Amino acid sequence: ESQPPPVSTGDLPGADQVRAVVDDAYQRYRTDTSGTVADYIPVLGKASPDLFGIYVVGARGQSYGVGDVETTFSIQSVSKPFVFALACHQVGYDAARHKLGVNGTGFPFDSLIAVELNPARTMNPLVNAGAIAATSLLAGDTAEEKWQTVRTGLSMFAGRELTMSTEVYESETATNRRNRGIAQVLESYGRLYFDPEAATDVYTRQCSLEVTARDLAVMAATLANGGMNPVTGVQVLAPGVCRRVLAVMAIAGLYELSGDWLYEIGMPGKSGVSGGIVTVSPGKGGLATYSPPLDDAGNSVRGQLATKYLAERLGLNLF
Ligand code: DON
Repeated sequence: ESQPPPVSTGDLPGADQVRAVVDDAYQRYRTDTSGTVADYIPVLGKASPDLFGIYVVGARGQSYGVGDVETTFSIQSVSKPFVFALACHQVGYDAARHKLGVNGTGFPFDSLIAVELNPARTMNPLVNAGAIAATSLLAGDTAEEKWQTVRTGLSMFAGRELTMSTEVYESETATNRRNRGIAQVLESYGRLYFDPEAATDVYTRQCSLEVTARDLAVMAATLANGGMNPVTGVQVLAPGVCRRVLAVMAIAGLYELSGDWLYEIGMPGKSGVSGGIVTVSPGKGGLATYSPPLDDAGNSVRGQLATKYLAERLGLNLF
């Protein structure tokens, strides 16, 4: 690069600059046609590859969006850091680390090999094995109670009542044998903390919660603001938990490409197969992108490009 990008300082740049950079990123990448829309969950394959939205919410609640920011889609794996946060709230972040792990697997998100090769079985709560185990740790004696813990908890991050897409839930339930297998294997090793079928079912509901790019940006901004939702003013998480959630996102948020992401973008992030990515700039704000075409690891192509552009132009890189 001819000019070094600005270094990270205490706040987002001014409103006009943020708006201009967000608009620029949108225009620059909207015509990119690389990547493939996921269809291993059949209903996801119906999403238009043209959808693209970018939303930024500052740690003091300022917000900017462009493109398809009101389109709803299922949250999928972007739910995982937020459910990990709820599990930490339930059992404490120390116990959560020992029960779930906080290191990268180096394998795809739905890997069984990763479970077999690692003596701790679950390596972190952002791949399916650790995520299903995190869900199994949540408050509630029954599946229904655990599901309500997820739904109300994630709604507090978003600052509005989230609901599940029945269509996505049914489509994934009909095709989620690998996740059910992962849960059974974890149970066999004593590394699941609830009935495997029921835990997988709550996890599948969790992945089917419907959000917009705006919702995801508010959720990310809550993590950027020490666990307090900057739009509603509600303290959703203890700051000590918030910090640990960001650490896990930094090591595993983009699966086996997490190192590449941190190298290029320099912030904790989390992607999902429906095309969402959240990125957190601690103290400054949250970014969310939505665009369904994915790369081979399952990360939104336009989302990665736009986030890198925003990180550089807005001086968000932590390093
Ligand atoms: O369990 C699954 O396969 C999906 N419900 C979520 C996977 C996901 O989003 C991973 N993404 N990159």
